[in-house]
Amino acid sequence: MKVCVVGSGGREHALAHVLSRTAEVVVTPGNPGIPGSVPTPPEEIDADLYVIGPEAPLVDGLADRLRAAGRTVFGPGADGAQLEGSKAWMKDLLVSAGVPTAQHGTFTEAEPALAFLDTMTPPFVVKTDGLAAGKGVVVTESLTEARNAIGDYLSGQAFGDAGRTLVIEEGMTGPELSVLAICDGTRAVPLAPAQDFKRVGDGDAGPNTGGMGAYSPVPAVDDELLATVMRDFVEPTLAELQRRGIDYRGVLYAGLMLTPEGPKMLEYNVRFGDPETQVVLPRLTSDLAQLLHDAASGNLSSPPTFDDGAAVTVVCAAEHYPASPRTGDPIDGIEAASAIDGVTVFCAGVGAGAEGGLVTAGGRVLNVTGQGATLAEARDRAYAGVAKISWPGLHHRNDIASSAAGE
Ligand code: AMP
Ligand code: GLY
Repeated sequence: MKVCVVGSGGREHALAHVLSRTAEVVVTPGNPGIPGSVPTPPEEIDADLYVIGPEAPLVDGLADRLRAAGRTVFGPGADGAQLEGSKAWMKDLLVSAGVPTAQHGTFTEAEPALAFLDTMTPPFVVKTDGLAAGKGVVVTESLTEARNAIGDYLSGQAFGDAGRTLVIEEGMTGPELSVLAICDGTRAVPLAPAQDFKRVGDGDAGPNTGGMGAYSPVPAVDDELLATVMRDFVEPTLAELQRRGIDYRGVLYAGLMLTPEGPKMLEYNVRFGDPETQVVLPRLTSDLAQLLHDAASGNLSSPPTFDDGAAVTVVCAAEHYPASPRTGDPIDGIEAASAIDGVTVFCAGVGAGAEGGLVTAGGRVLNVTGQGATLAEARDRAYAGVAKISWPGLHHRNDIASSAAGE
């Protein structure tokens, strides 16, 4: 089977790496650190299966265009991708599906938005309706800050059109949990649970990022909790999508909060998590290409299987990430890190240096994944890999998976 992976980050490198166990893989546009990267647009590549990594091309209808040309695609069409592309649409669907979620209101005008905000209690939550690269959410104890966010969003100043419609939500508390399911339009099967780390600094200090690390499995998530999430969240969502005539074939990534009143949905993503993919897929013992092809064909049969071991990934970030990452620094040590038993380096924000070699070309530059029999062993290996890597200004968290590993 020939598989075309669309995207250019660490998630796509991990997809390509695991797909290539059983398939021929090309990645478009990829990056200079991902083998099989080609600049050819996906429409011009002939493949048996297309796997679309990021949300933006999904929301933009790339899956629809490829399907219209008779291709087999893993990834929802623009209709299903609204789950991530419009929070207002997603919230409306959750209510119709009877899925537990925070109370909310949707607004395009300041006056009713401010009046609704006044009825809420802290923490106040204000979100852009549209895609804002993970930055369109304010969670604050301060009424003034929440009021200011409403003004900034609706005016288009903060996030352009993405913020001209906004959602105000009840603030919830509790640990967060992500469950990723593979869907074939009517059926869904869960992947092994993973936990990511959103804040830039150790101990969850500093600003939010796209994710600074992840681990799998998650000791706190047992089979019963996973089954509950599938039964009460993922399956009703898929059924409601079907009722709306949407044939959802791709990943449903459910972001939940375990509140004192039980689990509630925070958000859906319509793609694999990044960097969760870099710990979940390496643990797969069944055939990924076959699984995604089955889902894309509406024919999911057997659920994926995972090894009994563990994986930990640590994101190596560029100086000043997430505010304004510096790029162009030469990267050293990828080979030395990859030579360590159980270590794989996935290239995310990398470019080709003028004198050969790889240079930093984004905020999250490399993902160093360690695998081992236990989380502690996987974590030791990941950090042994990280220790081999260097460029000026490299930073990473030191506490990825430390408490789950019992340290
Ligand atoms: P979202 O993009 O909707 O997942 O929001 C990003 C992050 O904001 C989440 O991972 C939570 O940490 C936080 N968040 C979002 N919605 C709420 C809420 N209703 N209550 C508390 N925290 C929230
Ligand atoms: N790691 C969070 C995400 O992919 O959205």
